Amino acid sequence: MAQNWTPEGWKAHEARHLPLYEDAAALSAVETTLASYPPLVFAGEARALKADLADVAGGHGFLLQGGDCAESFAEFHPNNIRDTFRVLLQMAVVLTFASKRPVVKVGRMAGQFAKPRSSPTETQGDLTLPSYLGDNINGIEFDPASRRNDPERMVKAYSQAAATLNLLRAFAGGGYANLRQVHQWTLEFMGRTPWADKFSDVADRIGEALDFMEACGVDPGTVPQLKGTSFYTSHEALLLPYEQALTRRDSLTGDWYATSAHMLWIGDRTRFDGSAHIEFARGIGNPLGMKCGPSLEPDALLRLLDTLNPAREAGRITLISRFGHDKVEAGLSRLVRAVKAEGHPVVWSCDPMHGNVVKSDSGYKTRPFDRILTEVKGFFAVHRAEGTHAGGIHIEMTGQDVTECVGGAVAITDDALGDRYHTHCDPRLNAAQSIELAFLLAEMLNVEAAVRRADAA
Ligand code: PEP
Ligand code: CO
Repeated sequence: MAQNWTPEGWKAHEARHLPLYEDAAALSAVETTLASYPPLVFAGEARALKADLADVAGGHGFLLQGGDCAESFAEFHPNNIRDTFRVLLQMAVVLTFASKRPVVKVGRMAGQFAKPRSSPTETQGDLTLPSYLGDNINGIEFDPASRRNDPERMVKAYSQAAATLNLLRAFAGGGYANLRQVHQWTLEFMGRTPWADKFSDVADRIGEALDFMEACGVDPGTVPQLKGTSFYTSHEALLLPYEQALTRRDSLTGDWYATSAHMLWIGDRTRFDGSAHIEFARGIGNPLGMKCGPSLEPDALLRLLDTLNPAREAGRITLISRFGHDKVEAGLSRLVRAVKAEGHPVVWSCDPMHGNVVKSDSGYKTRPFDRILTEVKGFFAVHRAEGTHAGGIHIEMTGQDVTECVGGAVAITDDALGDRYHTHCDPRLNAAQSIELAFLLAEMLNVEAAVRRADAA
């Protein structure tokens, strides 16, 4: 357990990107309410995820983490939850089938409601208002009332997270994720993509493998790993009053856990030395992610690792690099070398989204699909050169047929961005683009495995 740590100790540290609430009494009332509510996850589940991630850190598996940039109250709908879950499962099937290794599935879901913004204000015409900070802080509508920070929103976010998690648990364990269903998961609009046939082919081959097992006397319907799947939740640990209220002492071990999600990550803007967010994170037992962007120096990263994982527990830390397509090779190599030399066990995961935002000619914030792929390829190249494991992918995606990122096999053009641009924050991959990425990742994982086999021979 962390030394000299309390759930509210972060308040003595420098906190960036935290909202100011005008009404301290209202904030305190909400914190008391949330602290009396049931935890959303159980500490034992967070430990199970940590064990899965420890395997990935050891080179045996791959982390697939994805979901909305920002979940919203407006888009809260069972179909949205189902479709995002389904695309993540489809991606996992493609990756597992290709790599023959377990894929650890973690949603950016059931709690991804708070956003750090590059500017504290937004101007439209003559009016300047506070920026939108995510649905558990203020509203996206551009008017003064909606942009006011309202602590009551945290209670609504908690309820939405609870209902989302409940449905995800039902899907994961209740039959929807049964491997016999892979054909049924095919989404209609995948029918238009060249990848639909490829997915169908994978589904056929999985079906044959299940038939073979059944003929040998193994009933897939009774094998837990085939009947259902493990699915975990995660979000950025940004809104510390919310996280603190849901931090509980585990009755089995006596250790503290954030119970708002299985895994929490620290964003690129809040992971500086001595930050309130790092102070909070170091005391919770959950697996932690940390974003690593161009401004992170190797020695600062090593200090952060010593703070967050002094015991060097494998599975505790996932480093999520987000350099941008043209910076990843140089930037990431330095970090990988330093971490390897120090012997810190980490999962290296690639976020190819946050370093690749551009403004399109039509005025939309977008991410070119080819830049996303270039960053992923650069990430694999660095790990190949350093002899480390390319352990995961972290993406902003949705199961909906949105038009937010340009490019891909069903080429979304600049002009088409306006057709279905629905995101509350950053542009997401749509279902077809996500599947396409999964097949390209599968190829890269196969190359990594072949190189390893050759080295071992
Ligand atoms: C995010 O993942 O939504 C995010 C804000 O990323 P980063 O901290 O890497 O900028
Ligand atoms: Co984002």
